[in-house]
Amino acid sequence: RMPILEQCYNLMDFEAVARRVMKKTAWAYYSSGADDEITMRDNHSAFHRIFFRPRILHDVENIDLSTTMLGTKVSIPFYVTATALGKLGNPEGEVVLTRGARKHNVIQMIPTLASCSFDEIVDAKEGDQVQWLQLYVNKDRAITKRIIEHAEKRGCKGLFITVDAPQLGRREKDMRSKFSDVGSNVQNTGGDNVDRSQGAARAISSFIDPSLSWKDIPWFLSVTKMPIILKGVQRVEDVIRAVQAGCHGVVLSNHGGRQLDTARSGIEILAEVMPELRRLGLQDQIEIYIDGGVRRATDIIKAVCLGAKGVGIGRPFLYAMSAYGLPGVDRAMQLLKDEMEMNMRLIGCNSVDQLGPEFLDTRTISMH
Ligand code: FNR
Repeated sequence: RMPILEQCYNLMDFEAVARRVMKKTAWAYYSSGADDEITMRDNHSAFHRIFFRPRILHDVENIDLSTTMLGTKVSIPFYVTATALGKLGNPEGEVVLTRGARKHNVIQMIPTLASCSFDEIVDAKEGDQVQWLQLYVNKDRAITKRIIEHAEKRGCKGLFITVDAPQLGRREKDMRSKFSDVGSNVQNTGGDNVDRSQGAARAISSFIDPSLSWKDIPWFLSVTKMPIILKGVQRVEDVIRAVQAGCHGVVLSNHGGRQLDTARSGIEILAEVMPELRRLGLQDQIEIYIDGGVRRATDIIKAVCLGAKGVGIGRPFLYAMSAYGLPGVDRAMQLLKDEMEMNMRLIGCNSVDQLGPEFLDTRTISMH
């Protein structure tokens, strides 16, 4: 018998249910990582290498989880990151995530390769709800320009350019499932001559421009007023370069372990990046986010302690949406809030701005 929603007590529980109820091809697409999936597994286990140094006898009656991301006030330091093909898991697609994000006052990043059209996802937002756009840069810059201008006009508050996918990684689980109904599931590629023999991911990615380089950044800055954030940065040199290029943020990320296998996890990279940024006095010039493997509020807290503005969460909300629809997404987000409030009390912190490296024992990860 399938567990009822109230029997899901953490984000991993949704994954177990999704695995049982999802179509095999959809499960293969969502759950797969590149090659041997070493990076995908380590994304989560890297958090386990960091332990807390809680503070005692600090009045923790009142806890405030709210913070800001690119100027937007949010209720907790996570956002719903961009994940393609939402309708594989739920017939309504990404708008389910829009409604969950609204309810919990967190930001949703809209993927270029969403199943719903961009406008459907924007139309699903309510009131002053904030969305960002994840951009795969098309070889045809006229298409890319149209997408960016349209997103800005429709109120998107951040442009996240994915820089870790000049070519899509080999996700063998996905490739084996010989995906067939991709064309009907995706928008925005600017053409439908897709190769269906290599799995869902590769089928839809042939429009992505592998020649994208630092030279293109001034052009992005010239065509939009939205803040520009590079998604998929993996070393401090590139964070510094992003600052120099005028970018407003970076996401330290390995694309959920779906691109370069044996790439480091976001939290490991963060431990390299922040001390160096502080040494150079650049820490206030750019907002640093991480994603990958965030499953517990303790993971969020650790990232914020190390200097991240917030974290992106991908698969858990896909699984919650696939297994239970909006109530699942709602519960997953509420569980994270409950966990975070409790853990803030247990480490002796009242608010996000009090979090810092002194609450962690980082001897077991590589601090540079
Ligand atoms: C992704 N991710 C992703 N990233 C991106 O920039 N564009 C995209 O289209 C997608 N699509 C996508 C699909 C699926 C099914 C997954 C699981 C992931 C990567 C995503 O934004 C993020 O980096 C990771 O998902 C974070 O890791 P977790 O939270 O899934 O472990």
